[in-house]
Amino acid sequence: MDLSKYKHLRFFGLKLNSLACKCVALIVIALILRAVFLLRFSSFRGIEPNKLFTFNKPLIYSEFHSRNSKFLEVPQIVWGLNNQKIALARACLTARLLNRTLLMPSLSASLFYKDVDKLEPISFDKVFQFETFNSLCKGFVQLGRYWEISNRSNVFELQKGSGRRWTIKKDLDQLRQFSAHPYDDYEVVRITGKNPFLWHDHWPVKDYSNVFECLVLVEDISRQADKVISKIRQIGLQENHNIATGYVAVHMRIEKDWMIHCKKMEQRSNISEICSSKDEIMERVRNIIGLKKPITVYIAAADSLLEDNKILSGWKEGLLPFEKKKLGVVELYEKQPYLIQSAIDYEVCFRSNVFVGNTFSTFSSLVVLDRTQKMINMGVGKHCGIDVMWPSYAYNLLGKSKGPRPWATNMSDSSLIAISYGTSHISCQ
Ligand SMILES: *[C@@H]1O[C@H](CO)[C@@H](O)[C@H](O)[C@H]1NC(C)=O
Ligand SMILES: *[C@@H]1O[C@H](CO)[C@@H](O)[C@H](O)[C@H]1NC(C)=O
Ligand SMILES: *[C@@H]1O[C@H](CO)[C@@H](O)[C@H](O)[C@H]1NC(C)=O
Ligand SMILES: *[C@@H]1O[C@H](CO)[C@@H](O)[C@H](O)[C@H]1NC(C)=O
Repeated sequence: MDLSKYKHLRFFGLKLNSLACKCVALIVIALILRAVFLLRFSSFRGIEPNKLFTFNKPLIYSEFHSRNSKFLEVPQIVWGLNNQKIALARACLTARLLNRTLLMPSLSASLFYKDVDKLEPISFDKVFQFETFNSLCKGFVQLGRYWEISNRSNVFELQKGSGRRWTIKKDLDQLRQFSAHPYDDYEVVRITGKNPFLWHDHWPVKDYSNVFECLVLVEDISRQADKVISKIRQIGLQENHNIATGYVAVHMRIEKDWMIHCKKMEQRSNISEICSSKDEIMERVRNIIGLKKPITVYIAAADSLLEDNKILSGWKEGLLPFEKKKLGVVELYEKQPYLIQSAIDYEVCFRSNVFVGNTFSTFSSLVVLDRTQKMINMGVGKHCGIDVMWPSYAYNLLGKSKGPRPWATNMSDSSLIAISYGTSHISCQ
């Protein structure tokens, strides 16, 4: 036996130098292992093999379990960050309607929504803090872990419909039916069906906002966002000593796919204020009434737009544009899967001093919803204009002095439709 690999082994703080010491150490280790082994075996003796798994569980288990003994299980949540957040909120609100605890769902790290094999499930608690969610959302919705289930055969499968014939009303009637007898007796209701939470909306904006407020990024991800944000603040100072440390985040949607999509939307809805060109966006940001310049502008844009440096040109009059590349944070992003990259960008926009986005973008709409909620929590009554705490603007809607229209979310809206499909009616004029 080669003892050389134990050379650096420390045993009760002593370095093992002599052979005798090494031998003694090995014997002691062997004895400990044997004792542990015997202990485990003796405590298991006489117990049927399939009950071994419940070993050690009852204590922690009853503590969580007594809270709510009924669970809702949902399929993996898919698509982009915004769709995943909305679907996750809907899964939570469904659990609330059924008076059940939502079993911690899987999100998707990648965007390959057509190819189910490439969906790369990522556990909720790899992205958001599990315990924090439950403590912030206490009394509203709760997440549970699979080990909290006591009887895995006491499951009812609820097939949700899909397609045109599956209306909002049918969906809601079904949920109501399953919140009552005899289904409420099942320990687990497992929802099946194709992406059941992407479609129907039964809840007011306020309920969604309650759920979103409980979503706090895990530390590792928020630290990445911190790095990007402090780079933005620092770089402004380096380039121009007079600059304020704040920054404007512009969620710039001008990539080819979006332009095709938004032109179609404009035709279909007969609304002309959906697509904005880069020039229009730059002009409107420049004309924000009361914006102190010079100021750093962080451009959140699709990677395809960052390839040439065109997106940085044309900004004038004290607007200093930066994107991932110019900030030197491309690598930080590239290390992360798609979902996390979006989550970081979201955080950078959410925490900006001034946010400018498009009311037909779900990403922008969710950022504004979160910022509006944050002001409401602080007891701020006014939500529109540059002098509020976290002002937001819509560059696709013309405001005063050729600027963008101030934008806040109408928290009394009865559904999330305005946010998920876009609107030109926003609660600032
Ligand atoms: C909801 O579930 C809890 C715990 O299972 C139970 O105590 C409560 O009565 C239920 N409420 C309704 C309205 O069914
Ligand atoms: C578990 O649930 C099944 C189905 O409802 C039931 O038949 C069985 O008796 C339950 N087992 C225990 C140990 O409660
Ligand atoms: C579209 O809107 C314009 C002006 O807003 C109006 O004159 C026109 O009739 C509308 N067309 C349709 C098809 O609704
Ligand atoms: C907000 O939404 C409610 C309900 O739809 C509506 O009555 C109200 O007029 C809206 N407020 C604003 C400022 O748009």
